Amino acid sequence: MKMSLKRMGNRPLTGHGEALRRVLVCVTGLSVVGLVAVSCSTVNRVELAPPQIAGAKFIGSEACEQCHQEIYDGFITATHYHLKAPGTNAMFIGCESCHGPGSLHVESGGAPNTIINPGKSPQVCFQCHLDKQAEFNLPSHHPVIEGKMSCADCHDPHKGSVIPGGGTELASLNSICTKCHTAQAGPFVFEHEAMREGCITCHEPHGSVNARLLVSRNATLCLRCHFQEQTTAGAIYIGNVNHTSFLSRGTCWSAGCHEAIHGSQVSDLLRY
Ligand code: HEC
Ligand code: HEC
Ligand code: HEC
Ligand code: HEC
Ligand code: HEC
Ligand code: HEC
Ligand code: HEC
Repeated sequence: MKMSLKRMGNRPLTGHGEALRRVLVCVTGLSVVGLVAVSCSTVNRVELAPPQIAGAKFIGSEACEQCHQEIYDGFITATHYHLKAPGTNAMFIGCESCHGPGSLHVESGGAPNTIINPGKSPQVCFQCHLDKQAEFNLPSHHPVIEGKMSCADCHDPHKGSVIPGGGTELASLNSICTKCHTAQAGPFVFEHEAMREGCITCHEPHGSVNARLLVSRNATLCLRCHFQEQTTAGAIYIGNVNHTSFLSRGTCWSAGCHEAIHGSQVSDLLRY
């Protein structure tokens, strides 16, 4: 069975979506045959291939409605709904782009081991989002490859934007993180206003070369917001306090400094 994907509709793409679009343009018109994936020789070399199941054919999302009504009904708003196989037998294979071709599953009335569940392994997602595999292999990472978490803990594949918080609502994004990290949820007597910008101002959601998934390993993490024009030669002022001798002691969040970086119950300077 020949199959390839193209993006439907004209929804504007932003950020990383742009990189994906380049890939999609590249893929359109080519086809994926069996287990052979299409690879594009663009700068971002990515393979965009729906999963395969031996002996099964793609039958389209509509075939899933009968038994998985609730998921099907919400799916029209989902990001991956738009995936479509082009060509003469064009059909929406949104569901099957993650779950694999569904003919055997449907014919058997939903028998076990006839369909892929990416909640059990992220490999399906990596087939199209190749760069994510590398991110989850960085020294500090969420344990998704280890099977302790799934992409679906943060991404709803079935409804609405697959980007947590829709890509804009940072408050709802924080609530996804604090589901598991309750200690960072507050409330704090002394809040750190940076939290309103969202956890991902300071943390990479997938993986990082820096400890604790931090976007930066040193003071530059803090100086992005706490930038101050320096007026005294040879001295470093932050928050109108002379930090010259402090900075040699380690990171801003070392013991004895701003240790309570997410918020504090006792110290307005977030010391403990
Ligand atoms: C068959 C290929 C394919 C598979 C498998 C796939 N995706 Fe996608 N994904 C896409 C395409 C294509 C888009 C862009 C859709 C659009 O913008 O209309 C996308 C978009 C996304 C986005 C939004 C990206 C952005 O920048 O807007 C996220 C997040 C995402 N996918 C996560 C996942 C997760 C998690 C899985 C596994 C559960 C998965 N994807 C499986 C092809 C795939
Ligand atoms: C004739 C009814 C029927 C149809 C049609 C059907 N399913 Fe299922 N499906 C089931 C049953 C029964 C189960 C097992 C019980 C459950 O989890 O609800 C199941 C389970 C699943 C699971 C979980 C499997 C696992 O190992 O955890 C996925 C994923 C799934 N179906 C996807 C689909 C997709 C995608 C389609 C459309 C291509 C589809 N189903 C069409 C009946 C159906
Ligand atoms: C972007 C990839 C993606 C797409 C597209 C997708 N699913 Fe899923 N599906 C998943 C993931 C990931 C899980 C595991 C969810 C979890 O573990 O919480 C899942 C789980 C399921 C399950 C198992 C029951 C459950 O809720 O855990 C069923 C049934 C299912 N999907 C059906 C569908 C149907 C029907 C469609 C299309 C209308 C669809 N899926 C589209 C990724 C996808
Ligand atoms: C701990 C939560 C979490 C887990 C687990 C997670 N993600 Fe994400 N992901 C996010 C957040 C938050 C964003 C939004 C990042 C942003 O807006 O900069 C994101 C963004 C994305 C994007 C689009 C932007 C980009 O960085 O390219 C893709 C694609 C994606 N994730 C795929 C995946 C896949 C595939 C998995 C599983 C292998 C996964 N994610 C697991 C939280 C998570
Ligand atoms: C489903 C639960 C879950 C969700 C949701 C989740 N995490 Fe995690 N997080 C974990 C687990 C499990 C670890 C690994 C803990 C370990 O290795 O000891 C972890 C590790 C971390 C670490 C590193 C901690 C350390 O001690 O090195 C940071 C930082 C972090 N997560 C931030 C986030 C952010 C930000 C989000 C939201 C985008 C998020 N987490 C969403 C479960 C979750
Ligand atoms: C202003 C930057 C910043 C923001 C915003 C931020 N963090 Fe952190 N976070 C840090 C730093 C710095 C550390 C490292 C602390 C250490 O190593 O002692 C850290 C550590 C962590 C850890 C590891 C355990 C710990 O407390 O040391 C977790 C889990 C975590 N953050 C989750 C979150 C969550 C969830 C959010 C959003 C609700 C969030 N962070 C927002 C800077 C931030
Ligand atoms: C996203 C922007 C942002 C980042 C990143 C950030 N902060 Fe903040 N921080 C703020 C804002 C806004 C305030 C409240 C206004 C102010 O006091 O400057 C604040 C307040 C503080 C305060 C309290 C100051 C006072 O006088 O009450 C401390 C201490 C602090 N931040 C330390 C840090 C440290 C340490 C880091 C790095 C781990 C950091 N901040 C990263 C935005 C940020």
